Amino acid sequence: MADRVYVFDTTLRDGEQSPGVHLDVEAKLEIGRALVDLGVDVIEAGFPISSPGDFESVNSLAKGLKGVTVCGLTRAKQADIECAAEALKPAERPRIHTGLGVSDNHLQHKLRMTREQALEAGVKAVRLARNFVPDVEYFMEDSGRADRAYVYQVVEAVIEAGATVVNVPDTTGYTYPTEYGSLIQGIIENVPNSHKAIFSCHCHNDLGMATANTLAGVLGGARQVEVTVNGIGERAGNTSLEEVVVALKIRHDLFGCDTGIDTHKLLSVSRLVSKLTGMVVQRNKAVVGANAYAHSSGIHQDGVLKERTTYEIIDPHMVGAEKSEIILTARSGRHGVKHRLNEIGFSFTDDRFEKIYEQFLHIADQKDEVTAEDLRRLVETVK
Ligand code: KIV
Ligand code: ZN
Repeated sequence: MADRVYVFDTTLRDGEQSPGVHLDVEAKLEIGRALVDLGVDVIEAGFPISSPGDFESVNSLAKGLKGVTVCGLTRAKQADIECAAEALKPAERPRIHTGLGVSDNHLQHKLRMTREQALEAGVKAVRLARNFVPDVEYFMEDSGRADRAYVYQVVEAVIEAGATVVNVPDTTGYTYPTEYGSLIQGIIENVPNSHKAIFSCHCHNDLGMATANTLAGVLGGARQVEVTVNGIGERAGNTSLEEVVVALKIRHDLFGCDTGIDTHKLLSVSRLVSKLTGMVVQRNKAVVGANAYAHSSGIHQDGVLKERTTYEIIDPHMVGAEKSEIILTARSGRHGVKHRLNEIGFSFTDDRFEKIYEQFLHIADQKDEVTAEDLRRLVETVK
């Protein structure tokens, strides 16, 4: 039987930390409902102590969303944890996500703590959080740049203190997939009580490797992935939900893991998040970009029209897209042009088609794309 990978969506917390994005309670509720419908397992709704608005958002989502774990972020501080516990009170399945840095860089420059002090604060935070909720996730910020032996020590101590999930963030997007995978694998193999917790991948995209790192983490044994819709988030963003979920599905042969996501809803959720955050999805974005199922060169169009899988590994229906698209450009061949003409209701003898195709090439040289309207005009003028 395939293993289950839990999808922890942090669009409403880390995603909302994208510069220029602000979501009010109503928008967060709308996205939250769409995420539940999509089938995510955990929704990180916000950072309750950070502002009254964030408290209200976490509280409203805790009240309004059923059938999902609702999570609130805290620092490893008593006031944060008490505030999150209060905000999460109405949740059916509350989770407190607490933690602090583990890299020497963060310990020295940000936290100004010794390793021992940080470890003690982390353990104390987990114990306190467990007084309020049975489900506590511990994050080890900047794990990607931390000393492995210290990471193992922290993992063992926080599991002993009651953490149910241990998050291994590559906060700065520094690691390479083989490194990140081996970090997760190393934790699982070297920490004696690792079987008592689920390990979670939380990767940032500074070097464009967030998805690859997260998938390497799954290969290393992690069974939770922390993701955002469209990959939005701090700086270059977080791991994209749709990329990880579809990769696990398409390469089931490699990962042997399932998620609870209904992939047919991916495109509509992507569009909703883009609309409400104002973050435009780049056309060539994997899985949900406008060009993800569009073909413009003659060689590719000919292949796809003969058999879709020649150039498309994802069936567009799988993500809720209507169909593959043939985009007519100066690189399009006869097969593509004939196909588009047929789609808009025309078919011609070979001679007439040759004349139309010749004219098509002249128009295509002047434009980025030859539209259906251009084709109709062309048909009227070429007799
Ligand atoms: O990137 C990170 O380390 C985080 C933690 C707060 C989980 O977002
Ligand atoms: Zn993060």
